[in-house]
Amino acid sequence: MDDGVVIFPMAMCFWRSLKVSFASEELRLRGRGEIYKVFDRISRRYDLANTLISFGQDARWRRALVSGVIRELNGKGDFVILDLGTGTGEVIRVFREYVGDSGLLVGIDMSENMLNVAKRKCGGCLGENVFFLMDAMYIGLVGSAVDAVTIAFGIRNVAEVDRCLEEIWRVLKPGGVLGILEFGLPQGSMWRNIYMVYLNYVLPGIGKVLTGEIRAYRYLGETICSFPSHEKFLELLFRMGFVGCTYKEFLGGAVLLYLAHKPKN
Ligand SMILES: C[S@@+](CC[C@H](N)C(=O)[O-])C[C@H]1O[C@@H](n2cnc3c(N)ncnc32)[C@H](O)[C@@H]1O
Repeated sequence: MDDGVVIFPMAMCFWRSLKVSFASEELRLRGRGEIYKVFDRISRRYDLANTLISFGQDARWRRALVSGVIRELNGKGDFVILDLGTGTGEVIRVFREYVGDSGLLVGIDMSENMLNVAKRKCGGCLGENVFFLMDAMYIGLVGSAVDAVTIAFGIRNVAEVDRCLEEIWRVLKPGGVLGILEFGLPQGSMWRNIYMVYLNYVLPGIGKVLTGEIRAYRYLGETICSFPSHEKFLELLFRMGFVGCTYKEFLGGAVLLYLAHKPKN
């Protein structure tokens, strides 16, 4: 394999991390648990921006998350689902397409503006859907009450991933399901190079045109680069006690769907 093909994305990530240590106000916000302020600013055009920057694929990824979780629940009907970092409520909306009016769907987020979009959007959805302004690292629910926890493109944004996973563990019923959708870095070197150029140069430009916030979309690239690889993330899930942990790649590993269980006893 051509060394340049491997070195190029590593250099991009290194350059990103150098810029991070000097410049990224967004990463500092995340460290303080205040990244929701960025989402407050982009909430109005968030869904449109997602559709455009993912070429409409984001809807497919969320459907894979929802159908994967329902399959892992063995079709059990009247469940309680908790969606962390629910944002504009897209995961909740997709769940409703699958489960009709059964079960209780709860979405939490720290961004009031994102939640306002979610409430408007899901106001017309079937069933009981509730949204709370709440931190995914301090979930205000009694222990072991939830059949499944989902988190789509949110785990990268929490200040302490371990703390968030501990909370997920606490609120899940024994045998409960965890479904996480998150960006990753593609394995194939050629595709990885193209993806890095897209992430670092094209995507912030599109984000700026759509939302006026170039830094929010630079932050996306920064966090994708610094998030653990799927091997490391699976290791972390196993270490936290989750069992049956699997992952599925989309777009050659640019997006990953993780599914895991809390053991039955
Ligand atoms: C990239 S968006 C994902 C939104 C949605 N899940 C989706 O699929 O589009 C990340 C969301 O996580 C929220 N968030 C970040 N940190 C959080 C925290 N500690 N607790 C709850 N929500 C958080 C942000 O406010 C934002 O709405």
